[in-house]
Amino acid sequence: MSQDFNLHIPPGRSEAVHFAGNSCDSADNPKRKPSIREALHETAVLLEALPQASPRLEAELLLCHATGLARTKLLTWPEAEIGDKDLARFKSLVQRRLAGEPIAYIRGRQAFWTLDLCVTADTLIPRPETELLVELTLERLPADAPLLILDAGSGSGAIAAALASERPAWTLIATDRSIRAARVARDNLRENAPGNSGVVACHWLAPIAEGSLHAVVGNPPYIRDADPHLQLGDLPREPRRALAAGPDGLDAIRALSAQAVARLRPAGFIALEHGFDQGSAVRAILTQQGFGDIVTHRDLSGRERATTGLLAI
Ligand SMILES: C[S@@+](CC[C@H](N)C(=O)[O-])C[C@H]1O[C@@H](n2cnc3c(N)ncnc32)[C@H](O)[C@@H]1O
Repeated sequence: MSQDFNLHIPPGRSEAVHFAGNSCDSADNPKRKPSIREALHETAVLLEALPQASPRLEAELLLCHATGLARTKLLTWPEAEIGDKDLARFKSLVQRRLAGEPIAYIRGRQAFWTLDLCVTADTLIPRPETELLVELTLERLPADAPLLILDAGSGSGAIAAALASERPAWTLIATDRSIRAARVARDNLRENAPGNSGVVACHWLAPIAEGSLHAVVGNPPYIRDADPHLQLGDLPREPRRALAAGPDGLDAIRALSAQAVARLRPAGFIALEHGFDQGSAVRAILTQQGFGDIVTHRDLSGRERATTGLLAI
């Protein structure tokens, strides 16, 4: 991106940092360092140029990442000056963000459910909408039973980690075709649910024994190959195999639910996330595959987001 970062180093004065609009002119005091308040303000203004950014929040998160300070420290200590090394790190992070890199990949972390997960460019950035799958699974299944549950297409392992951390009696298996994503999931599961979860790099549920699972939960790719949304926001930087699934976006849901039929126990539970306009198509797929009690659930914005069912006995 051609946009310049305003926390610029003026030519010929490489040790000084100049802030546009700063009443304390840097020409009078060339060695003066920017304060936290100034750095956050100018960065937030710059980040307004990005579509779908949360400028002030992102500026704070990047400054925390660059300096190692807690967010509360930034808010309670806004007049503190930023040292040269921290400032150089901060500027480089802001440049990356201005070039379109998602904030989650820059920080290497993303909040999901109650957890702070590791994410990389090999994993989808977990979305708040996906917490609906966690809620539905926690509501529908007995908390203290020793259930075997599979998170199909686990990416960072977000769903498996959330469920396993909430339900110590359950065992969570996370699967993903990407070995690199599976490594990230392994680290997140070790950190958040070390005693009752594991990960396998494989095609959906392929290596799982028939009739062994109590539940299959998944947020598979479901965007149509030609959907222009694939060019918006963070999506162009996320792995395409995590997002797109054929001409109608339903290839992955068909494949994974077909595999689930053989591997679920009788009355086994399935919960799948899908696009807001795919509810009726997903209900039809699950009905055709032998599931009953099929219900589509809405997310917080009132849009159809996940469909659940029970394998007919
Ligand atoms: C939409 S992402 C979801 C990631 C994670 N569950 C989440 O909600 O953040 C879909 C995931 O499915 C994985 N995937 C795609 N095709 C697969 C397949 N055939 N077998 C297993 N995983 C697959 C992708 O690698 C990607 O990590």
